[in-house]
Parts: sequence; structure tokens; C-alpha cells
Amino acid sequence: MTIDTEPFANRLEKNARHLARWAKRAGVSCYRIYDCDIPEFPVIVDRYLTASGVRIHLQEVDTGWRQTELEHRQWTEAIALALARVLGLAPSALVVKRRVRQRVNRVLEAQYQPSGVAGEDLLVEESGHRFIVNLEAYLDTGLFLDHRITRGLVGARAAGKRFLNLFAYTGSFSVYAAKGGARASVTVDLSNTYCSWAKRNFELNGIDLRLHSIVRDDAIAWLKRARAAGERFDLIMLDPPSFSNSKRMQGILDVQRDHASLIDACMAILHARGELFFSNNLRSFVLDPDIALRHQVANISARTIPEDFRDKRIHQTFRITARDGTADKNN
Ligand SMILES: C[S@@+](CC[C@H](N)C(=O)[O-])C[C@H]1O[C@@H](n2cnc3c(N)ncnc32)[C@H](O)[C@@H]1O
Repeated sequence: MTIDTEPFANRLEKNARHLARWAKRAGVSCYRIYDCDIPEFPVIVDRYLTASGVRIHLQEVDTGWRQTELEHRQWTEAIALALARVLGLAPSALVVKRRVRQRVNRVLEAQYQPSGVAGEDLLVEESGHRFIVNLEAYLDTGLFLDHRITRGLVGARAAGKRFLNLFAYTGSFSVYAAKGGARASVTVDLSNTYCSWAKRNFELNGIDLRLHSIVRDDAIAWLKRARAAGERFDLIMLDPPSFSNSKRMQGILDVQRDHASLIDACMAILHARGELFFSNNLRSFVLDPDIALRHQVANISARTIPEDFRDKRIHQTFRITARDGTADKNN
């Protein structure tokens, strides 16, 4: 079977040239180069400049194509070879992730499942902060590239504040907040793996773990207890997954169904002049219009989506504050 990868190679080359110029100007070293730009080549290509050199994360997107196992393997190999050739890299610089053919919510579930391979921990840099990524162990790498600007926003707002990071994953928002001068922070995630990854990211950036704590817990249960305990924060990042059904939490989390109650729970522990940033990656997401009746809401997605994700509707981000400072009467 011959596979014509020329259209893919041409687009990739064009993207890579444009984005390399932008990245140099912007001081960005890890970025997305290609995201299903040509429907016949449904893959995502991310470039990471690591302490061990350039690595490419190539992810196949499941479009439900009906290929035999052999055709599928040959197709993936042809794409990988074209990629290595265009980017001038050895094939060993590539990590190729083939999607398992599963139904939609099973795929979402699989996003956070281990691959069974330990992989290599690699060091990357972003805006002077250091992060551990692992391109092999899981479907995701440890650093969501689409939130680069949002992380910067949180870092720039954090000085002197008490920061809360919910659904924190590897704690990258907390690293920005702590390095941006937050006086304290709490980082909450349900997964032991990601909490210890966050701890390693903190250590890597010289963050004081006595002031910046990491809590392994269900964010929903944690929010209830925090409210009962009278906890207050000045800055909150709420970035839940689209869907989660871990055995360690009660019920399931569905961001479309549950976002209003999550936002209200955050607003209940936010200081009157505090800020909540709420984001999610569900493409079909629509914000419950009633939220704007209770709180001040601004959709800031146009500001938080970076050049390498332009036109992709990769996430939506909202800045939510109290209406006339009335949310927190205790402040
Ligand atoms: C989409 S990632 C969040 C991305 C993160 N905010 C970032 O930008 O790096 C989802 C995270 O939510 C965590 N998670 C899923 N269900 C949870 C729950 N009920 N409570 C706390 N964390 C949860 C997962 O372990 C995973 O780390």
C-alpha cells in the first residue's frame, strides 16, 4: 500500500516555518505545530524543547476510520516518517500515540489512564519556570500547552494573594502563582500520581511546600469542607476535565451539567474583590446563562488562546468576579 503523505508534509512545513518565527519572538519553546489541519490526516503534533533536545509528541485522533490493523500501522508509520523528515529530526525524537478505538466517553476516560510504559521524564522551560513532562507514560504529557497564556495571567495576578488551584493536574498554575509571589496556595487533585508530579514541579522551581500545599482529594468534596471551615481565597483557578468517573469520587463529573454548582462553590470561598478563572476544554460547552445573574462574568477566551491554537476552540476561559462585591459578606 502506498500512502501519499505529501499534502500533510507540505502543510506541516508551512505551519512549522510560521510557528518557529512566532515562537522565537514570543520566547516559547514548547508548542503545537499541527492539529488535524487536513481532515485526511487527523493527527496532533506538539513540539517540546527539552533539556535532552527537541522531542515530538504525535497523537492520532480517532475519527472512526475503518482501517485494518496492518493498514493503520502502515499509515501511522508513514505519517511519522514524513514528520521526522520535514522537521529534520531522527525518528527516535518522536513519540507516537495511536488512539485505541473506543466510544466517545470511553476515550475521554482514557485520557487519564496510564499507558503501561514508564517513559522518560524530561525537563522543559516555560516563561522561566521549569516543568517535568513525560511524552510516553500517559495520553497527556504533564503540561497542557493551550493554557500557556492563562498560566501567565494567573502568575501576573498572584502577588500577595492566597491562590487555589482545583483539578490541578501537575500543578503548573500553582507554579506560576507561587513564582508570581502568591503568599500561599492550595493545589487540589484526585490523583496520587499527579499530586506527586506537582510536588516534583514545586521542588524543581524552589517552591516552599509549607506555604504551598498539595492536597489529594475530590475537588467537590474539598470545596464543601473549605466552605464549612470558613476558608477564603483571593484567586482561584477552576479547570475541570470534561468528564470524570474516578472510583475515588462520588458519582461522576460532567462539566456541562456540573459547572454552575462548581462555580457557585468557588464564589462562596472567594474574597469580595477576588477573581475566579474558570476554563474547560469541552468543544460544545455552553455557560449556564443564570451564572451571569449571580456573578459578574467575562468570556476571556480570545485572550487566553495562543497563536499555536488559533481558530481551534481548544478551550473557553471565563473571568468571574462578585457582583458589586456582594458575594462575600465576611470580607
Ligand atoms: C484537564 S486536567 C486539569 C488540567 C490542569 N488544570 C492544567 O491546566 O494543568 C484534569 C485533572 O482533574 C483531575 N480530577 C478528575 N476528577 C477530579 C475530582 N473529582 N477532583 C479533583 N481532581 C479531579 C484529574 O486527576 C486531572 O489531573
